[in-house]
Amino acid sequence: MSRDIYLTGITTTGTPHIGNYVGAIRPGIAASKDPQKKNFYFLADFHALAKNEDPDKISQSTLEIAAAWLALGLDTDNATFYRQSDIPEIPELTWVLTSMTAKGLMNRAHSYKAAVQANVEGGNKDPDKGITMALYSYPILMSADILMFKATRVPVGRDQKQHVEMARDVAQRFNHHYGDVLVLPEAVIGGSTAVLAGLDGRKMSKSYNNTIPLFAPENRLRKLIMKIKTNSLEPGEPKEIEGSTLYDIYKAFASDEEAREIEKSYADGIAWGEMKQLLFEYINEHLKPVRDEYERLIANPAIVEAELQKGAARAREISAPFMAEIRDAIGIRKLG
Ligand code: TRP
Repeated sequence: MSRDIYLTGITTTGTPHIGNYVGAIRPGIAASKDPQKKNFYFLADFHALAKNEDPDKISQSTLEIAAAWLALGLDTDNATFYRQSDIPEIPELTWVLTSMTAKGLMNRAHSYKAAVQANVEGGNKDPDKGITMALYSYPILMSADILMFKATRVPVGRDQKQHVEMARDVAQRFNHHYGDVLVLPEAVIGGSTAVLAGLDGRKMSKSYNNTIPLFAPENRLRKLIMKIKTNSLEPGEPKEIEGSTLYDIYKAFASDEEAREIEKSYADGIAWGEMKQLLFEYINEHLKPVRDEYERLIANPAIVEAELQKGAARAREISAPFMAEIRDAIGIRKLG
C-alpha cells in the first residue's frame, strides 16, 4: 500500500506572525515529527515574485520563515525542507504543465478574478492593469510544486483549495494525453478554529497590517498586545469570550484547563487591561526560548542555508529522476 505524501508551500513574503503559527506552522511541525508521515515543506520564493516584492524583502522573508520553522523544532531529518528555487525541475515542469493547461481554467482562478474585479471596481479602463503573467499562471507553478513530489495530500488554507483542485485537473489532463505519470493530489483544509483575528478584529493577515509577529522583541510584543481591540465594558462587568480576540489568542496557546480559568475570569469581570497584561506574559513565556533560538539563526544565516541545502539535495533525489521520466513521456528525448 502506498503511503500518503504531504506537501505544503509557504510563500516568502512578510514575517511569520502568530496567526501563521497557530494555523500552519504548529500543525506542520507536529506532522514533521511523525515517522509515519512523509512530509515536504518548502519556501515558495518563486511564488513571492508574483507579488513584485523588493529583492531584499524576499531574501529577508526567506531567512525569517526558514529560521522560524527551524527554531520551532521542524524535524528536517524526517521531513524534507527546501527552497523552491533550489529545485530546477520545478520551473521545468511548470512549462510542461503550462502546455497542458487550458487558458479558460486559469481565467476562473479566484486570485486572478479578484485582481480583475478590483480593477473594474476601481474604474480602470484596463481590467488586467498591473496583473502579471506570474499572477495569472500562479496555479500552474503551484501544480508543479505539488506534482513534482507526487503529493497525495496538500494542507492549505481555504483560499488555496481551488489551486489544488486545478493541480488535479492539470494532472488528469496530462495523464489522459501521456499515460499514467502524475499522481492526483487532494487538498486538506485546516479547521476553522485555526484562524486567529488580528489587532483590529479582522483575520490576522499581512494584507490587513494587523499582525503580531511571532518573534517580536518583548517590548514590541507588549505594545502590540495592548493595542488589541476590545469592547468598552468596564472592569467588574462580566464579559463574553465569544468574539474576544484576547481570549482567542490565549486559547490558541493554552491548555483546556487554562482556557477554562480565563473563561471564569471573563465571567467575573476581569478588566481588559489586566487581561492584556496576562496574555502578554503568557505568550512571552511560551515564546521566549524559541525566540532566543530564532535570533541565533537570524544572526547565523549560514546554518539556515545548510539546512536548506540538505533539503534540496534530498528533494532533487526525487525530482531529477522523475523529471527525466516526464521528459521521456512527453517526447523530449535524446536522439539515436
Ligand atoms: N500558494 C500558497 C499560499 O499562498 C503557497 C504555495 C505555493 C503552496 N506552492 C504550494 C501550498 C504548493 C501548497 C502546495 O499559501
